[in-house]
Order: sequence, then C-alpha cells, then structure tokens
Amino acid sequence: MPFAFDLAILNCGELLTLAGERRGPRRRSGLIELGLIQNGAIGISRGKIAWVGAQREYRRQGRARREIDAGGKVVLPGFVDPHTHAVFAGSREGEWAEKLRGVPYLEILQRGGGILSTVEATRDASLKSLTETAEHFLGQMLACGTTTVEIKSGYGLDLKNEVKILKVIEQLKKRVPIDPVPTFLGAHTIPKEYSDRPEAYVDQVIEMLPAVRGRARFCDVFCEEGAFNADQTRRILEAAKSEGFAIKLHAGEFSDQEGVRLAAEFGAVSVDHLDHIRPEEMPLLAQSGAVGVLLPGVSHFLMSKHLPPARALIEAGVPIALATDFNPGSSPTLSMQEIIHLAVRDFKLSAAEAISAATINAAHAVGMGEVVGSLEVGKQADILILDLERYEQLPYFFGVNHLEKVLKKGKVVYSSC
Ligand code: NIG
Ligand code: FE
Repeated sequence: MPFAFDLAILNCGELLTLAGERRGPRRRSGLIELGLIQNGAIGISRGKIAWVGAQREYRRQGRARREIDAGGKVVLPGFVDPHTHAVFAGSREGEWAEKLRGVPYLEILQRGGGILSTVEATRDASLKSLTETAEHFLGQMLACGTTTVEIKSGYGLDLKNEVKILKVIEQLKKRVPIDPVPTFLGAHTIPKEYSDRPEAYVDQVIEMLPAVRGRARFCDVFCEEGAFNADQTRRILEAAKSEGFAIKLHAGEFSDQEGVRLAAEFGAVSVDHLDHIRPEEMPLLAQSGAVGVLLPGVSHFLMSKHLPPARALIEAGVPIALATDFNPGSSPTLSMQEIIHLAVRDFKLSAAEAISAATINAAHAVGMGEVVGSLEVGKQADILILDLERYEQLPYFFGVNHLEKVLKKGKVVYSSC
C-alpha cells in the first residue's frame, strides 16, 4: 500500500479536534464542544492535516512514512496567543514590588514609569539585541505550546522605533517556528516628549500609519484613562480603517472609556481586556462580530479586585478568547497553560471553555480561524501532545509544563525527551 501520509500521530488517548460544524468563533455552549475523539489518530501531509479520525479507522487510510505514538495522552491544536507585547528591552520587577506594596499601575505610568520606562529601554536597544531577546521569549512560548502569536509594537512611540519593533517581528518569522501576527500599537501611551501635547501625538500616530502599513496586519489603540480617550481613539481608528488596517482595541482594562462601542462601530476583529464593560454593551459586542479577548494573567499579576464578567459575556453570546498579554508591566508570563489555569480558577471557565478560548477562538481573534486553531483537514498541522491522561487535568495540575511534543506545520519543533 502506498504511503498516504508524511506523518501520522497514533494512539491519541483524547484527541481534541476542536472541529465544529459552523465557521466562526464559538459562542455560549459551542465553547464546550471540543470535537473529542477517544483513541484517535491524525494523518499529516505537506505540513497540513490530511486526515483525522478514530485509530481503528486509520489503517484503512493507508500508512504514513513516519509515525509518532502519542502513548494514550491528550492531543490538541497548538495554542494561539492573540495578545502580546513580546518585543521590548529590560524588565520591571522593581515596579512590581511597588505594586505589591499598593502603588497603582496608572500612578506609576503617570510619573513616567511603567510603559514609558520600557519605551526608554527599547529605544536604546538595537534591532539585533531586541531580536535576540524576543527570540528567547518565543522559544519559551513554543516550549509551552504556543504555535501562533500576535505581537504588538508600542514600546517605540516614534516612527523609527515603531518600525524597528515591527522589523524585529518580521525577523522572528525566520528564527522561531511560530507564526507571528504583527500589530501596530503606536497608540500605546503618550510619549514623554508629547506629554503636554497629546493631540499632536495622535496626529503623529496617524502620520505613522502609511509607513507601517505593509508591516502590520492590525492597528490597536490603548483606549484608557491616562492613555487615549474615546475621541482620540476614534481619530486613530478612522485613519487606520482608511489605510486598510484591521482593528484591535484595548478596552476596559482599568476603566470604561466607551471602547466597546468604538470596537463595534469600527468592526474590530477583537476587543481585549473587558474588565470594565457595562451590561448593555455586552449584546452590542456579541453582535459586532468581535472576539472578546480576556487576559487573566493581568488580573492575577496586578491583583485586580475587579475581574471581567466572563460568565455574563459568554451568556450574552460574546465569543471569548484567552491570551497572555505577555509584557513587562502587567503580565510577564509566556505560558498559555498558566493562562488556562487562571481562567478556570479566577474567571470560572470550565476546562473545555478555556481550551476553546485558547485555540479556535484565539485563532479568530487574530484573523486566522480558517488556518489554525483546530485539527481539521486542510488546516496547518500545529499540534500539541500533552503528558496528561484527560484534558480536565490541564488547568488542574498547575505550574508545570505539560508539553511532551509540539508540532508546527507537521514538524516536531519541541520535545521534552
Ligand atoms: O495590555 N494595556 C496596555 N499595555 C499592556 C501593559 C504594558 C506595560 O505595562 O508595559 C497591557 O496591560
Ligand atoms: Fe496589552
């Protein structure tokens, strides 16, 4: 019999395909449909999923050139991390010690610390050193199961340095087997040279847009008290739309600035944070088509008392996703496994909901829902083998890396043994 597949993964005790009948992100009870096949197998050809089914059916499909025995363990799609700020210099553990003593995040930002201190360090850093640092971070993400990652600029805040960060993201594509999805976040905060002229900085951001157009897929704005208000956000989004950018938005992290309404109005692909959202905005968000990206690492790290209303969002029909928000100030974690644990513990998601939110819905949050996020024929063979017997153990055994193998486009790119 001829070889049907380049590679097969056999003996998958629980194979979570995340396959769904409907296109688009999962909502409400759709979030718990994991497409689970007990004792399943996967056939892979030319880096893509060629066949998925029960192990007993596998031999009828022919043989594979190479086989991997998953040993009866849990197999699922690679995690998609749809919100990170992974390109920066320095770290801010000293500031965290202050936050632990009760100094608020926005107060640190207002006195020139926070994002602004990372901007200073990042402006001083070379393209080469930023690339090496980010490569190291992405290597760790990959080892924890992330195979697609959105990365924002936003620690440059002038054209030269924003372009430098976007170039780093471009370089990472060649250096780490992760798909980076670039986002322009020139509107991360007002840089100190514009502190008394915020509107002039908004003009600057708008002027940067044509220059970064080919380098970023999305344009994002930190719509927040102390960053960009609703009017400034609107000006930037209008310009970004007319330059052809798809839109993402930071909204409701510390306060409600009407970000959800703007996200709906501008057809954002995702609206992220949502700790502060009014009940009447939830149906609007659900109808808008945007994915609501929740960031439990931030609530945990900043010890927020005010959590996003995750259950109400699900019940309102908002398709939720999960992300690390990896950054040096509010969420220095690289691991989507940790995020799944926190989402279950703090936001009361079930294990199944959290897994859908970290895979298929996260893929939709970066406009890649037709390419990654589930194990379906024709999609990229981005696959994780976890050293677990049941998927419910993923959030339960916390603080350890469960990855046994990571496959990117059908190639083993990480193996624990
Ligand atoms: O998503 N919200 C803005 N940006 C990050 C924080 C960045 C920083 O503190 O350096 C966030 O929380
Ligand atoms: Fe962020």
